[in-house]
Amino acid sequence: MGSGTSNSSVIDSNTNFTSRPPEFSIIPEPVSLLKTNGSFTLPDKIVVLATPEMKFVVDYLKEKLSIPTGKFIAEFAHTQATGTIRLVLNPRPDATLGNEGYHLSVTPTMIIIKANQAAGLFYGVQSLLQLFPKEIESKELVEGVTWKIPCVEVTDYPRVAWRGLMFDVARHFFTKQEVKQYIDAMVRYKFNLLHLHLTDDEGWRLEIKGLPKLTEVGAWNVKKVGDFGTFSTPGADEPRTYGGFYTQDDVRELIKYAKDRFVDILPEIDVPGHSLAAVVSYPELSCTPGAETYRVRSGERIMDWSKGAPPIALVDNTLCPANEKVYAFLDTVITQVAALFPFEYIHMGGDEAPINYWQKSEAIKALMLREGLKDIHQVQGYFEKRVEKIVESKGKKFMGWDEIMESDIPTGAAVMSWRSPKFGIEASRAKHEVVMSPQGTNYLDLMQGDVTSESKVYNSVRLGKAYEFDPIPAGADPKYIKGGQGNLWTEQVYNIRQAEYMTWPRGYAIAESVWSPKEKKNWTNFTGKVEQHFHRMDIAETKYSPAIYDPIVKASRTADKQVMVELTTEIDGLDIYYSFDNSTPDRFYPKYTEKVVIPKDANQMRVITYRGKQAIGRLLTIAVDDLNKRAGKR
Ligand code: ACM
Repeated sequence: MGSGTSNSSVIDSNTNFTSRPPEFSIIPEPVSLLKTNGSFTLPDKIVVLATPEMKFVVDYLKEKLSIPTGKFIAEFAHTQATGTIRLVLNPRPDATLGNEGYHLSVTPTMIIIKANQAAGLFYGVQSLLQLFPKEIESKELVEGVTWKIPCVEVTDYPRVAWRGLMFDVARHFFTKQEVKQYIDAMVRYKFNLLHLHLTDDEGWRLEIKGLPKLTEVGAWNVKKVGDFGTFSTPGADEPRTYGGFYTQDDVRELIKYAKDRFVDILPEIDVPGHSLAAVVSYPELSCTPGAETYRVRSGERIMDWSKGAPPIALVDNTLCPANEKVYAFLDTVITQVAALFPFEYIHMGGDEAPINYWQKSEAIKALMLREGLKDIHQVQGYFEKRVEKIVESKGKKFMGWDEIMESDIPTGAAVMSWRSPKFGIEASRAKHEVVMSPQGTNYLDLMQGDVTSESKVYNSVRLGKAYEFDPIPAGADPKYIKGGQGNLWTEQVYNIRQAEYMTWPRGYAIAESVWSPKEKKNWTNFTGKVEQHFHRMDIAETKYSPAIYDPIVKASRTADKQVMVELTTEIDGLDIYYSFDNSTPDRFYPKYTEKVVIPKDANQMRVITYRGKQAIGRLLTIAVDDLNKRAGKR
């Protein structure tokens, strides 16, 4: 099965217990959902009762209902006593619901959503839509559906306030329209924060007035495809026409689009590392002579990671902390970012800054002497403190990746924890605000299935791993944990379809982790819901990864050093069939029951999963050489 290929017959016609849909498939799982008697069916004429301050939510609801159902929708003020759907802002706030909670009541005659704020009504609408048959996701009229839902009472509110996704629009550029498409999908799952990673070695994506080269030069590289990171260095004759940037008007439009949907946008300007696009545009920002010969990265190798972090830079992609021009530059940038983005934080990066060019720099040595900096890490510490002051001088809060804790962390800094939850735990205990996005569970750029079926990346996070994410891990001071987010880096993500594929279904797991009470999370129930949401995304034409249906293939060695293959599945109720004879297995082939030893001269293994009589996973073909490597040393 692949996204875009409907597999509804697999689920609907199957009698296997584990494939039976859950009675309700709301993601994220609500705080409380009580089934009551009867059902509600949409009438031909739908009357929505609302007030003017709910205008966007009402328009959204009308569009979502009218397009697939073709029903006529009228809107009235609450002075009309009867309606089909009534949206109510509580005259006296209900303390349980907070700013984003809602109460949804479906009775045989009427639907009522109550909330303290319009955001809560919006989230009530999202839950309501998920109660309707999947065809409600259609962008065109669907005939022959009974628009019926069971009666329920739902009370719901989020576990944490910061529920985000990071979208890296620097490694590959995504248009304004594509960013809107990304927002459209995320709000379905009650995400309220879009972190835009706006600058990196591969592109500077934001117009800054007075610094035109950032977008004339810094936003463009050479289009290449394949294994990003291994590309040949572009020749002087290769056109630098690939990329793009957002004008400040584009950004205002995106902010409004997001805000209407109750999403804040967090801008990230990643300095002092990851700054090649800025250095290429303005070489005087570097400490390194010869920086004027650099070019914006097109996926060629510019870092040596063989010794771990920080990486050894092969070209100097850092701003120079010893150079006053850098702080003037950042003042200009941050002034405009602060004016443009209403969100209270500005993320200033701080991750993975190489030190090897700084170590060679006379200017850095002089800075260390002057400021009494004991080692090169304190040079970044000095830089971060100066940047924090600039950010705060513009009335904003400073945020950085957890490397900003390596030296004396700036006093007011908020930390985005990515390397391991331990950094977030430590920062929260030191009374710094924290957003959790640990790579082990929250990195959406990592593979979600077998390497033979994915865009190859250095590591994996399967859905089950993503579902383990806990934004408030043991040991953290919950008072300082603002929430959590998934991070979609886009080195290997060349287009919006792949951005969606990488985000879903792991985005569901992160949404449920940041919204639902911890004790409400249940893997079996969740995966049942995930399958239902795949059908919804098929209809909405949003791409997702079907990797949960694929076999998990591991190899080890027997006592006498032969290679043994172990096959498992992420979800229950699937059978696995395999071949070593190079033909495509179906359910009449050997069924996997225990570890199998690879036959002596076999050169490949093919594996597929079935649910009952229906093939459901993708066919994996794995070379025996690869299995040998997976098994490790002889
Ligand atoms: C990061 O992944 N370098 C924040």
